[in-house]
Amino acid sequence: MEKIPSSEITPEAVYLNRRSFMKVMGAAALGALLAACQSKSPLKTLDPQPSDPTPQPGETLGLKDELGDPLTSFEAVTTYNNFYEFSMDKEAVSRLSKDFQTSPWSVTVGGLVNKPRTFAIEDLLKIEQEERIYRMRCVEGWSMVIPWLGFPIRKLLELVEPLSSARYVRFETLLDEQAMPGQRSGWFAWPYVEGLRLDEAMHDLAILSTGLYGKQLLPQNGAPLRLVVPWKYGFKSIKSIVKIDLVEEMPTSLWMEAAPNEYGFYANVNPQVPHPRWSQATERRIGELGRRETLMFNGYASEVESLYTGMDLQANF
Ligand code: MTE
Repeated sequence: MEKIPSSEITPEAVYLNRRSFMKVMGAAALGALLAACQSKSPLKTLDPQPSDPTPQPGETLGLKDELGDPLTSFEAVTTYNNFYEFSMDKEAVSRLSKDFQTSPWSVTVGGLVNKPRTFAIEDLLKIEQEERIYRMRCVEGWSMVIPWLGFPIRKLLELVEPLSSARYVRFETLLDEQAMPGQRSGWFAWPYVEGLRLDEAMHDLAILSTGLYGKQLLPQNGAPLRLVVPWKYGFKSIKSIVKIDLVEEMPTSLWMEAAPNEYGFYANVNPQVPHPRWSQATERRIGELGRRETLMFNGYASEVESLYTGMDLQANF
């Protein structure tokens, strides 16, 4: 079969991003990326090596997203985190999670599928890993631009063959209060659970991430596997996933359970729908002074708005 050029199967904004990544990267890093593309387990090639130094504090690689905004520094992306299983203090998460064991790790994919299966993380790293530069907008009103590595969720779902009765995808984080001390608090109904409608999960922009800044994910960012859905608020991007189920009913997420009047299932970035306690009209880009206007669907409207045709986005918040 003729190979389809990636420009034809990838939204243009994402494709342009990838191109700019290739253009701006230094020769050594580009070599590592190309080697990674040919490798069966790309992230092994991207592991820190003497010739492939770990990004330095403040490093941004000079890259930009498709709107022309620079990457948030590696340091900020890896030291300002929301991961309540470790701490509610964003700046303590990286320290408290540094010994979290992410190997061995497996992810069980089942529910309404033809071929339920448990994948070792190594199996998932064999799926071609792509670079995606995405904005991440937290419901708290801050945002970042992050160069993720990962693969469309669609590629994993196709391996298990969803049944026609499957309408939603439910994701679950590891439940282990020894490893994740925050789970000893009774504040939330652990484990962390999130969900997507099946057509949202099949969208090319929705990825499962295994890395960022060309490196394997660190624990604080949700190693070894986390969801990234760039047109939705960051809390949808569930970390350290161990279970994925195809289901018929809309899953109840941890946040819907905790505060149903504040957090809905969809959580699409929408400057016109305020959170009950704060406006969503503007945001603070980490590393910048002042605030900028929040974009509908976080700037991805042309790619994703057709998923919501005819839906009342005020009621389905
Ligand atoms: N996933 C789990 N399991 N636990 C969490 O506390 N926090 C969410 C999301 N995924 C969270 C989670 C929130 S509120 C945000 S904004 C993003 O992760 C933050 O991702 P980052 O720390 O990699 O920037």
